[in-house]
Amino acid sequence: MSAYVPASDRYDAMLYNRCGKSGIRLPAVSLGLWHNFGSIDNFENGRQIVRRAFDKGITHFDLANNYGPLPGSAEENFGAILQKDFTGYLRDELVISTKAGYLMWPGPYGEWGSRKYVLSSLDQSLRRMKLDYVDIFYSHRPDPETPIEETMGALDTAVRQGKALYVGLSNYSAEETKAALAVLKQLGTPCLIHQPKYSMFERWVEGGLLDVLEANGVGCIPFSPLAQGLLTDRYLKGIPEGSRASKPSGFLKAEQITPATLDKIQRLHAIAQKRGQSLAQMALAWLLKDKRITSVLIGASSVGQLDNNLGALDKVQFDAAELQEIESILK
Ligand SMILES: NC(=O)c1ccc[n+]([C@@H]2O[C@H](COP(=O)([O-])OP(=O)(O)OC[C@H]3O[C@@H](n4cnc5c(N)ncnc54)[C@H](OP(=O)(O)O)[C@@H]3O)[C@@H](O)[C@H]2O)c1
Repeated sequence: MSAYVPASDRYDAMLYNRCGKSGIRLPAVSLGLWHNFGSIDNFENGRQIVRRAFDKGITHFDLANNYGPLPGSAEENFGAILQKDFTGYLRDELVISTKAGYLMWPGPYGEWGSRKYVLSSLDQSLRRMKLDYVDIFYSHRPDPETPIEETMGALDTAVRQGKALYVGLSNYSAEETKAALAVLKQLGTPCLIHQPKYSMFERWVEGGLLDVLEANGVGCIPFSPLAQGLLTDRYLKGIPEGSRASKPSGFLKAEQITPATLDKIQRLHAIAQKRGQSLAQMALAWLLKDKRITSVLIGASSVGQLDNNLGALDKVQFDAAELQEIESILK
């Protein structure tokens, strides 16, 4: 692959939203490396996607210790892409996040929320990505058996050690978030951002979490905003070879594509077409219309998908009739 020279117009078209009440702005669309960047995937394809994303103004790349498969390999591959293509001061144009919470290594210290696990996991992530620091370090899931003070204390330590600039929470309920935010505030390391699962098909955050985040000046970056590909044209005509639902390693299972879900997808697709958008673009726009949403965290298995998703920014407004029609389908 030829040497990478970032596009000189990369900041012209992207929208950057302030993350809660912090000093940092994130692109309205961010790229996640959960699937498609592991040791089982094509490295050069992933590298093209990352290059294209940056050329289009995507400055934020999201990882976790366990992304792969194999666990850890997405961080290794991303580190290799950084070393090859993002040399010199380009690191200062990137917001890189990682997380600790899910199973990473055997024994009692390889998952959840103990200080021992969280801080050694961050050290491992930095080594795999060959970085001195990450921009955002998340607690990936709440640990019911560890005091919240211990897990949040570990995040605070990561910042004080200079290994993370900001901290975040993922998969914490509204109540768990409130408790965590209070501890972080007291420690002097306010929470920057929350990363919940949120899409047209998964709306639990509307029942309280978004209000808690707004009240506390915390940003929100929904993950799986396309419901892992369901909210695109990917499955309109069955399950194509190479799609996430067709792969044994993917987290989307063929059984999830039920006739009832397909019916919704088709009806939403028809509305998107009337709006002059792809279904993926409409699904992303539908999230971004809420000012509490800082960025949508997409995945992509090709440059074409990434480009298509970025087109969402061309039309984020909905009229009342469209919203009502969408609501009647999602009910
Ligand atoms: N915090 C957490 O617990 C957590 C959990 C899950 C994910 N995440 C984060 O969120 C990121 C995104 O999650 P996700 O990958 O599930 O997001 P997603 O955007 O809902 O789904 C991405 C998948 O949808 C398909 N797709 C995307 N754009 C398309 C388009 N325009 N047309 C047709 N198909 C399209 C592709 O599937 P094919 O592979 O079939 O092409 C792609 O891999 C992850 O990478 C990770 O960073 C966080």
